[in-house]
Amino acid sequence: MTTPLQEKENDQPPGSDPRPAHPWRVAVLANIKEHGKSLPADVPPDAGADFDYIETIDQIRAAIETDGHQAVFIQADRDLPYALKKARPDICFNIAEGLGGDAREAQVPALLEMFKIPYSGSRVMTNAISLDKTLTKRIWRDRNLPVAPFQEFTFGDEPLRPEMHFPLFVKPSREGTGMGVTEKAIVNNEAELRERADYVIRMYHQPALVETFLPGREFTVGIMGRFDTVLYSRHPEWYEKDGFLRLPILELDSSRSVTPGIYGLEAKAQSVGSEGAPSYICPAQLDPELTKKLHRLAWRAHIVLGALDVSRTDIRLDAEGQPRLLEINPLPGLTSGYSDLCIQCAAQGISYEDLILEILYLGASRWNMLVPRDISLPQKKKTDPLNGAAKTTNGK
Ligand SMILES: Nc1ncnc2c1ncn2[C@@H]1O[C@H](COP(=O)(O)OP(=O)(O)O)[C@@H](O)[C@H]1O
Ligand SMILES: [Mg+2]
Repeated sequence: MTTPLQEKENDQPPGSDPRPAHPWRVAVLANIKEHGKSLPADVPPDAGADFDYIETIDQIRAAIETDGHQAVFIQADRDLPYALKKARPDICFNIAEGLGGDAREAQVPALLEMFKIPYSGSRVMTNAISLDKTLTKRIWRDRNLPVAPFQEFTFGDEPLRPEMHFPLFVKPSREGTGMGVTEKAIVNNEAELRERADYVIRMYHQPALVETFLPGREFTVGIMGRFDTVLYSRHPEWYEKDGFLRLPILELDSSRSVTPGIYGLEAKAQSVGSEGAPSYICPAQLDPELTKKLHRLAWRAHIVLGALDVSRTDIRLDAEGQPRLLEINPLPGLTSGYSDLCIQCAAQGISYEDLILEILYLGASRWNMLVPRDISLPQKKKTDPLNGAAKTTNGK
């Protein structure tokens, strides 16, 4: 029996597709939710909310195996170095959130770089910086990207700067998946601000990020690819000339969700389409001008932060209807039919399997694991049924 990879090798003219020299052993690295395990006393009530369900890992493994590779799951805990030594993967598919500290999403990439083990997606710096929303916004602001006025509170009693007008929004500076974001995040006066900032600092052991409240529509925008995508992608036809794919924009309408107007933890936890869930509108109904603007902003946010191959940027409109960048997710959720990026890919006609394999292949290409597509050759040949000669169908 031939594997899909072997079939591909037999079918295709040499150099037409990026090819691994042999099927890979892929380790999917993730932190899994552990049911029934009690949390230590010093962590917030929603600690671990960004961890994955084992079902998501099974979906990712199955997608990888459709292409003839072998996929195993390794829990990204403190035994990870030993498990990696034992499993000896050719490459890791990284979705690990990490364990504690000030840059937990960068822990696994840092470990893999130390061991020189190939892995998918963004590298250490991007994962470290993007977890820190304040630092991310400082970098974007420095590059003239639009962000809401913000101020970080490390102690909670810092004087509020004059450009910070109520209502304000208070959230942990280094969390994700809506952790620490409830209706109480909106504060209308000095007393509410101090109370919420103090709660965030104490409960999450990190600074509170305070921003101007953005009352407008909310979008999230997926970006895939990079400048040389055409050499390594399994689907070069997805991408624009510059090597990037700007996915259809997803609007999150939380007006009738469990937390009206806020896409926080409780709203994110609802199944798509259920009562209390936000409406997921993809592609969002937008005038072409705004679509272009949002795509451009998300692309620039991705480039400026050095994200690789895939990211999702959250954007909200301010009181004047102008877009403001909230945050970037270089490790976006990958649960089929549920995660925002998967919804955007489905709207673009990209299957879940192709999404996962694309992230894997683009990652592998950075570690010299793929023979690049020879773009000087015609990419598809068809046999002429009349004279049996190979006929070039594109590449003219
Ligand atoms: N400045 C703000 N104004 C209004 N809503 C906000 C603001 N910041 C965050 N939110 C709401 O909180 C949600 C979560 O915030 P976000 O910065 O995306 O963090 P994360 O998704 O990592 O938890 C957003 O999707 C949005 O609904
Ligand atoms: Mg977000």
